[in-house]
Amino acid sequence: MGKRFLTVLAIAVLMCSVAFLGLSGAAEQKVPAVIVIKSTLWKDHTKSAVTFDHKKHQEDYKIKCTECHHVYKDGKNVWKQGDEVKKCQDCHNEPTIKGEKKLPKDKQKLNLKIAFHDNCQGCHKELKKKDKAKYGKIPTTCIQCHPKEK
Ligand code: HEC
Ligand code: HEC
Ligand code: HEC
Ligand code: HEC
Repeated sequence: MGKRFLTVLAIAVLMCSVAFLGLSGAAEQKVPAVIVIKSTLWKDHTKSAVTFDHKKHQEDYKIKCTECHHVYKDGKNVWKQGDEVKKCQDCHNEPTIKGEKKLPKDKQKLNLKIAFHDNCQGCHKELKKKDKAKYGKIPTTCIQCHPKEK
């Protein structure tokens, strides 16, 4: 093999890896600015869909990804930014929406309604309790998140 062939080969390999890196970068998970949450786990919704501004929560309210996204291993959240984000219902697939607080504790952990309410309402209530002047308008009542359907 001549020196020139080896050089051409080396350049070809380099170009392939650059193209591959470019592709894997493009495959990064995208998130819409606003998500209308209407989980497919429930066929018969009793409440209206919830409009969630992902971009504002992330950029304006400066909430860390890990406040909402997690993968637990030995009781610790090992999810980090850049890892795949699964839908809440991929793990929280226990569907009870009536009397869900009466389920055994291990089932409550994987109940989808509890997961959303504890996360969303949980944070909002805590902030409102801490600073009512600043967070007086943060949604804590049913209708503020589930508006009346037109
Ligand atoms: C206040 C809560 C919250 C914060 C903060 C947040 N997210 Fe999300 N994110 C959500 C919810 C809720 C969904 C929709 C999940 C579902 O449909 O089950 C979502 C969806 C996503 C998705 C789309 C997943 C899909 O189904 O394709 C990605 C990607 C994502 N988030 C990444 C991030 C990253 C990265 C950050 C931090 C820079 C972040 N999120 C911060 C709540 C949050
Ligand atoms: C990869 C699986 C998985 C995904 C995806 C997931 N969860 Fe969880 N989540 C769990 C497990 C398992 C627990 C219970 C951890 C424990 O044993 O305490 C949990 C616990 C929780 C808790 C109670 C503890 C805490 O962190 O405050 C809330 C609230 C919650 N999840 C909300 C959500 C929401 C909202 C989403 C979507 C944005 C989501 N989860 C996505 C697996 C998941
Ligand atoms: C860790 C804290 C935190 C979590 C978790 C969180 N929020 Fe919020 N949310 C905020 C803050 C801060 C504001 C801004 C309040 C203000 O400035 O009045 C807000 C505002 C809102 C608003 C009104 C303004 C807007 O941006 O549209 C809605 C609706 C809302 N959140 C829905 C949700 C939903 C749905 C979830 C769960 C998927 C969620 N939030 C999770 C902190 C949180
Ligand atoms: C901070 C926002 C927030 C507040 C406040 C809130 N919810 Fe929800 N709730 C959600 C989200 C997000 C979901 C998941 C929506 C979906 O997938 O359809 C949900 C789901 C539900 C569901 C199951 C889905 C369905 O359509 O039947 C019921 C029932 C429900 N909420 C009732 C209530 C009631 C009653 C209140 C007041 C006591 C309330 N919620 C307050 C955010 C909120």
